[in-house]
Amino acid sequence: MCGIVGYTGPREAYPVILKGLKRLEYRGYDSAGVALLNSGLKVYKKKGKVADLEESLIGKDVHANIGIGHTRWATHGEPNDRNAHPHLSASGRLSMIHNGIIENYALIKKELLSKGYAFKSDTDTEVLLNFIDEIQQHNDCSLEEAVRVALKRVVGAYCILLIDKEDPHTIIAARKGSPLVIGIGKGEHFLASDATPIIEYTKEVVYVNDYELAIVRPDELILKNLGNEKITPYITKLDMDLAAIEKGGYEHFMLKEIFEQPKTIYDCLRGRLDVANGTITMAGVENYMEQLKNAPRIIIIACGTSWHAGLVAEYVIEDLCRIPVEVEYASEFRYRNPVVNKGDVIIAISQSGETADTLVAIEKAKEQGAIIFGVVNAVGSSIARASHAGAYTHSGPEIGVASTKAFTGQLAVLNMIALKIAKVKGTISDERYHNLLAELEAVPEKVEAILENADAVKAIAEKYKDSSDALFLGRGYNFPVALEGALKLKEISYIHAEGYPAAEMKHGPIALVTETLPVVFVATKDSYHEKVVSNMQEIKARRGKVISIITEGDNISPTLSDDVFVVPPADEVIAPMLSVIPLQLLSYYAGTAKGYNVDMPRNLAKSVTVE
Ligand code: G6P
Repeated sequence: MCGIVGYTGPREAYPVILKGLKRLEYRGYDSAGVALLNSGLKVYKKKGKVADLEESLIGKDVHANIGIGHTRWATHGEPNDRNAHPHLSASGRLSMIHNGIIENYALIKKELLSKGYAFKSDTDTEVLLNFIDEIQQHNDCSLEEAVRVALKRVVGAYCILLIDKEDPHTIIAARKGSPLVIGIGKGEHFLASDATPIIEYTKEVVYVNDYELAIVRPDELILKNLGNEKITPYITKLDMDLAAIEKGGYEHFMLKEIFEQPKTIYDCLRGRLDVANGTITMAGVENYMEQLKNAPRIIIIACGTSWHAGLVAEYVIEDLCRIPVEVEYASEFRYRNPVVNKGDVIIAISQSGETADTLVAIEKAKEQGAIIFGVVNAVGSSIARASHAGAYTHSGPEIGVASTKAFTGQLAVLNMIALKIAKVKGTISDERYHNLLAELEAVPEKVEAILENADAVKAIAEKYKDSSDALFLGRGYNFPVALEGALKLKEISYIHAEGYPAAEMKHGPIALVTETLPVVFVATKDSYHEKVVSNMQEIKARRGKVISIITEGDNISPTLSDDVFVVPPADEVIAPMLSVIPLQLLSYYAGTAKGYNVDMPRNLAKSVTVE
């Protein structure tokens, strides 16, 4: 949550920061602000989106070569100008931005109040800033030293950037639990929550680790631990191009990302899947094959859409590999007292690789001796680095808040992992193995065919956009897809939607069925199909509106449906990668038909770095 950007160098800092904030807006967008250091320290902030801040600064003096900027997702204090970042310290000397939560802020605030400090905002950030300010004033020490002392007392998560009026070239940064990337230019440095604000200036970056502090000047980057020992920065080359983070002619990132799926799935399979030779090459899996194939149990940990991908994987891995699988919400796993036995393998799934709950859950499982296998999209992210082994989804930057292409990338990776394990374990027949390899290879083309028909989904979305509720039903492999369809619809169109196993519907949700309730059946041809058709009958008998996602050649479902969308045939293991596409489109078109900003839905953020 929250996007942060910093710049120090010869350029005008404000345009660099502003552009960077727009790129990071997916991380939060309830208010934004900048602090610019020139002859004085100027702090500008505004409730609303980055564009509102930009507008409010027209005609203002924004000239500076050093500055920090923030786009917020509120935790402490409602979104307003006062609580927006950057904050200014009581002495007026320091300004700070923060991503994360300071858990012991109340105690520190009490101490500061007793020392005469007053606070202008309701944020934990201002408390930490004044704590640093107090240490600096009291000890007459450098900002770097004051930050180090303060952070030793802080409980919680943070990525902070500070500037000091007395030092017009230096940004002090530190992280624990919230991401920070530093871009290295020629005589300049860029700081950001992810690499997207940096990519157009330099490809050389340093990912800062937890408990590290960076002293950043135009021509110098010093990394230290909190014990004041220097650390050699590890420079990585970014493998990302600018086009990947721009809309490229699409109206929204979400639509672009939905339409990118033939390519992103292809990129994920490329170099790994070799149908002719019947092989799948994945170094991360190969290195841990012994542990994976002998695992008494696999526990999948994730949140949101990634959790739904985990549910699909539960069906696939149990079916193909005969290994028991449990799928856990990371937020639940981390706080209960989970049993992790010797040999258990944890698969952590995350698009951003920064989700706080998933990250902490991994650390917890690690402490109990588990092997962590990461299925992550964002290269170099915290979860990728915290995992023992893993496989990237190679879906490219996903910017729309609702996850789309990352989901199909996750399914592609998880299918390949399952197939690899099953082959080595001998739990899959040669024929099925080879068929599934060929089926996987055909997915990009089939997704392309579905997307060519997007207008048909648009018509359905427009028909039902004013519904207040919707039900999504599916069985077997398509049950998690129903959950994902419901999640997408509520996120993007604010229509209340529930996903349910189709059979379970008669134990409750059927009470909601009326002539106006749209019920979306994910009913592609699989071993459960006849049962799903019976469930459709049950809805129809109660005059519900049935919308079904069906396989080409299915003549029965259309007779029970008010609207149908047809997808190409596929093995049931693969089918979720196809059946989810019309559901992504359905939510997109319903949201846009209602005039909503689908890339930045109300109250949401893409990268949830607070628990
Ligand atoms: C947020 C996003 C979702 C995402 C979830 C998990 O809620 O809005 O789209 O599925 O976080 O994020 P992750 O990056 O760990 O997959």
